[in-house]
Amino acid sequence: MAQKVYPDPQGRGRKTYRDYSRETCSCVREFYRLHHRHQTFEFVLQKQKEWLPPRRRKMTVMEALDFLNTLVDDSDPDIELDQLQHLLQTSEAIRQAGHEDWFVLTGLLHDLGKVLCLFGEPQWAVVGDTHPVGCAFNDRIVYAEFFEANKDKRNPRFNTETGIYEAGCGLRRVHLSWGHDEYLFQILKDQLPEPALYMIRYHSFYAWHREGQYDFLCDDHDREMLPWVRRFNAYDLYSKNSNPPDWRRLQKYYRALVADHLPERLIF
Ligand SMILES: [Fe+2]
Ligand SMILES: [Fe+2]
Repeated sequence: MAQKVYPDPQGRGRKTYRDYSRETCSCVREFYRLHHRHQTFEFVLQKQKEWLPPRRRKMTVMEALDFLNTLVDDSDPDIELDQLQHLLQTSEAIRQAGHEDWFVLTGLLHDLGKVLCLFGEPQWAVVGDTHPVGCAFNDRIVYAEFFEANKDKRNPRFNTETGIYEAGCGLRRVHLSWGHDEYLFQILKDQLPEPALYMIRYHSFYAWHREGQYDFLCDDHDREMLPWVRRFNAYDLYSKNSNPPDWRRLQKYYRALVADHLPERLIF
């Protein structure tokens, strides 16, 4: 896997996160060119079949964190830290804000699905923003121009606003582009409170939680959960900086937190 180094994010204001316009992001552009071309409806169904239900490997959370720690996310313009540091910065920011245990734990876990990369999947099939497939691509999706190369763009079935879905059907019935969100949701779906599961399942669905699009696919439960996803996103995004949290000092707390909420091993 290519290890990418991004510009130093230290000292930047909030507004400069997720800035895809800077020239320095050519690797991010290339990432989305591939992502939007290859994430078709057919591809998503094929990946669901391949990876769900999760059955590859049993790991403790600590083993999964160790495993993930060799990965740098190509789709992320904001960070040069490894994944463990990003997870810890997110969970520590949530903890320092005084939120409940399950919320802190969600911060620690939310990107664990990226182990898919280490199982040999290309990054464009694991990370990056997610979007619904099976209906028209919304132009508020990042780098939407790259959908021109997606074969679904020329399929009339998929090119009305609701496409193959019924209006108001609820996001649980909608296929999103395949990636770490859905995969980890499926691993943890019986283990965490509902708001935590929404944070995990939809944290990369920026067109929904950030851009306010796709409300026509939502039901009232999705709308009720949306503020939780937004609350989580603030920590996912704005806790990023170049000061690595001290894992040796923190691990005792996190081991206990994990043991309190999850079975010893999870099936990935
Ligand atoms: Fe993520
Ligand atoms: Fe994240």
